[in-house]
Amino acid sequence: AGLAASALPRDLVLAQAAPAAPGPEPKLPAGFTFGASTSSYQIEGAVNEDGRGPSVWDTFSHTPGRIKDGSNGDIACDHYRRFAEDVELMAQAGLGSYRFSVAWPRVQPTGAGAPNVPGLDFYDRLVDRLLARGVKPFACLYHWDLPQALQDKGGWTNRDIVPRFTEYAQLVVARLGDRVPRWAMLNEPSVHAIFGHAFGNHAPGLTGWKNYLAAQHHMNLAQGTAIRTLRAAHPRLGLGTVFSLQPVLPATGKPEDAQAAVRFDAAWNGNNLDPLFHGRYPQISAADFAPWIRDGDLEAIKVPVDFLGVNYYGRAHVVDDPNGVIAGAGWGPHPPGTRTTAMGWPIEPHGLVEVLARLRDDYGNPASFVTENGAAYDDPAPKRGTVDDPARTAFIREHLIACQQAIAEGCALKGYYVWSLLDNFEWAEGYSRRFGVIHVDFATLQRTPKASFAYLAAVARGAPAGG
Ligand code: NOJ
Repeated sequence: AGLAASALPRDLVLAQAAPAAPGPEPKLPAGFTFGASTSSYQIEGAVNEDGRGPSVWDTFSHTPGRIKDGSNGDIACDHYRRFAEDVELMAQAGLGSYRFSVAWPRVQPTGAGAPNVPGLDFYDRLVDRLLARGVKPFACLYHWDLPQALQDKGGWTNRDIVPRFTEYAQLVVARLGDRVPRWAMLNEPSVHAIFGHAFGNHAPGLTGWKNYLAAQHHMNLAQGTAIRTLRAAHPRLGLGTVFSLQPVLPATGKPEDAQAAVRFDAAWNGNNLDPLFHGRYPQISAADFAPWIRDGDLEAIKVPVDFLGVNYYGRAHVVDDPNGVIAGAGWGPHPPGTRTTAMGWPIEPHGLVEVLARLRDDYGNPASFVTENGAAYDDPAPKRGTVDDPARTAFIREHLIACQQAIAEGCALKGYYVWSLLDNFEWAEGYSRRFGVIHVDFATLQRTPKASFAYLAAVARGAPAGG
């Protein structure tokens, strides 16, 4: 089922590149990186291959009622076997970089000890193929697929996870660090803490504020400890992490909603940003975290990073909710007239400028990448080798223009990775929500580039490939 090398010829890219609606075209500086993002559990499949151990997402997705369409990641996009085809599509489109994640349970099937070499071999093949095709690898060490064996010992709620994660990080970087220049420790720790450990609608399905606090603190600590340890052994590597950031606004003019927004902002943004960059929790959270903080923790969490990855989807419009699991707050209505995606998320490109400006003003303007941005839409079926997805193209264009604006306003933004390269397993939504710029037919696993992919490729071509 290999893809013909001619699947995405250059002229087709250009022919499809016309914008879906009139408007300015983004212009990003020379050296700006254009890429695409994925994560291991969402695309790889091959869950029993080459000694991989079970992850919390295998357990969770196989628990009836957890995933909307009853699906799981057993096969997903079968990227484990079809990775060369996926790399080829990026190479032919001229994308400069690919952000993927390494599945911890492939490397350490039980979460500890000597590496499972065949598991690491997969990433070795992937990285070599990327380099051979001129696509720069950007690896994330943890995108939520914790080895189930570690969850059985408490997972992120157990402080012992910190040395475990550090050991795992060292194993992966020892094998791939000679060829992968840029490493993110964690993907969206606040989302993993909130959905996986407080709401329980994501794996591992824990609930309650205490589990959230423990998981969030231990992720912060693991992130800082791993960066410090890797830095000592591999001083030349670009080391950082990836946060989900969103402006948080009260949904109404009520004072209690304004208060709720402050609390929600701490949970979503501040409890990641403040410890990493300032060595403290936001004032409003400090007492909550106190039971988990030991001497030296805050010093260990605060560590210089070479970059911060920013995943941006929209703003949060929140209301006070005494029963709300997240800081006594909940999601309220979007401002009237706000456009939304198939997820029901608000389309608010300017919010991206706002989060990057916040990094500039409050956190020392770290070098940053938009490591995820994209949208789910109910796309039409593939026709004549493409998928007509003008809304996604418009979404990407508007957010690239926001990138351009942020740079013009002095933000140290270096690149943009679309979420996602492929339609994939969208967690609790299963396969019902398609974020890909490449369509995947989940019956045949055939890939079909969408018009939005051609659009991104055309913009990327306009700016010389960067690092
Ligand atoms: C962020 C997460 O990192 C990714 O796994 C998810 O699929 C996208 N958001 C879309 O929800």
